[in-house]
Amino acid sequence: MADIKQFELPSRRHALARVAGLVAGAPVTAAMAQIDPRPFSEHYRAKGLAEMQTSYDFELVFRGNVSQPVYDYTAHGDGSEFNLQRNRHAFDWVDIPAARTPIAASQVDLSSELLGVKMKFPILIAPTAAMVPLHPDGEIGMFKAATAASGTPMILSTNTSTPVAQVAPAAPGGTLWAQFYPQQNIAVTQQWMDTYQNAGCKGITVTVDQQAAHYERSLMDRNLGGRVRTAGVGTGSSTAVLTGAARYRVNTARLWYTWDYIDTCRKMIKGPMLIKGIQDGEDAKLAIAHGADAIIISNHGGRSMDYGPSTLEILPEIAAAVNGRIPVLFDSGIRRGADIFKALALGADGVCLGRAARWGLGAFGTAGAQRLIEILQQELVQVAAAAGCARLSDIDKSTVKTNFV
Ligand SMILES: Cc1cc2nc3c(=O)[nH]c(=O)nc-3n(C[C@H](O)[C@H](O)[C@H](O)COP(=O)(O)O)c2cc1C
Repeated sequence: MADIKQFELPSRRHALARVAGLVAGAPVTAAMAQIDPRPFSEHYRAKGLAEMQTSYDFELVFRGNVSQPVYDYTAHGDGSEFNLQRNRHAFDWVDIPAARTPIAASQVDLSSELLGVKMKFPILIAPTAAMVPLHPDGEIGMFKAATAASGTPMILSTNTSTPVAQVAPAAPGGTLWAQFYPQQNIAVTQQWMDTYQNAGCKGITVTVDQQAAHYERSLMDRNLGGRVRTAGVGTGSSTAVLTGAARYRVNTARLWYTWDYIDTCRKMIKGPMLIKGIQDGEDAKLAIAHGADAIIISNHGGRSMDYGPSTLEILPEIAAAVNGRIPVLFDSGIRRGADIFKALALGADGVCLGRAARWGLGAFGTAGAQRLIEILQQELVQVAAAAGCARLSDIDKSTVKTNFV
């Protein structure tokens, strides 16, 4: 006989939970995963590309465009997401006092050269996985957008949803570097390096910040009956049963790697080697000793290990340790031009856009990603002008006041 329970009406609690789920899922009412939404919208319709004013405008449209697992994969971080929030909060703890002599935006020129690449603005696209689920334009669209936005360099994720050999030729004249997660098998490491370098990627970024982390709540926290989302990151398409330590979210996958491995990579990389995920001055010095041509200060946008410091808080110490010997790049939390200004003032030579760039692509494809990058470029120019800084070299510690405890 059938269990009578299945014919019962849903309980009040379930009905309320369902309504709450619907409200949370509606793009315009949804609480964003990070602070700083723009609450003063005059209307509730989704805005068009021409109406985008800040990066946060794109996030709303992106959220409305994609399925919940795809949105969650981009939005969330590790654990309680304290680190994710702290990355953003830290920018609020840095003031930009008004300059005694502001200048016109037209006088500002923030061009520089980074590892042999001439850049109009000190901004790059961070490597982030699986862009096709965000928008059919995918990685090709992102690379075209970055190149069209004054030649912004892009670092392609090793978890790209489009093979590097297809992405690299898509934007002639653009700069495409590749990112790589350490692989214990040296022959496999060599194969990856060959694939990137044969496709024309000169700069290779080795990401080292995920050694013991079990990141991405979005893959782990759904009630999938003891299963976890796996393949096709961001698509939510398949799941696997967790076994052993993984049932307790213990990650043992990357504990093996050491600086010796970086030495091995160094020999395989013909162009610049960037080490991504540096979080203290000692590691920055070691990275230089082991042949890094640049470092990227990053905590993976709060996806790596919860309760660490924000990257902005550790930036001054790391910049001091590097002391100008190699470029210091920075990411985790950049959403506005003012954020970029603050990172530059505290010692970064350039910044990488992670989620923000994905919001642009996910909202309006190639055109959206380009517009988003251009908005941040122009916001940066505006802040630099207001702070009286005509050149990158003018943006130093004296232009900000930090309130870190
Ligand atoms: C959805 C997503 C996927 C990511 N995938 C990678 C990756 O494949 N390789 C990597 O080195 N970093 C990856 N990152 C980290 C970014 O390169 C970057 O460090 C981070 O997004 C910066 O923080 P932000 O998103 O707050 O700007 C990913 C980040 C996000 C949000």
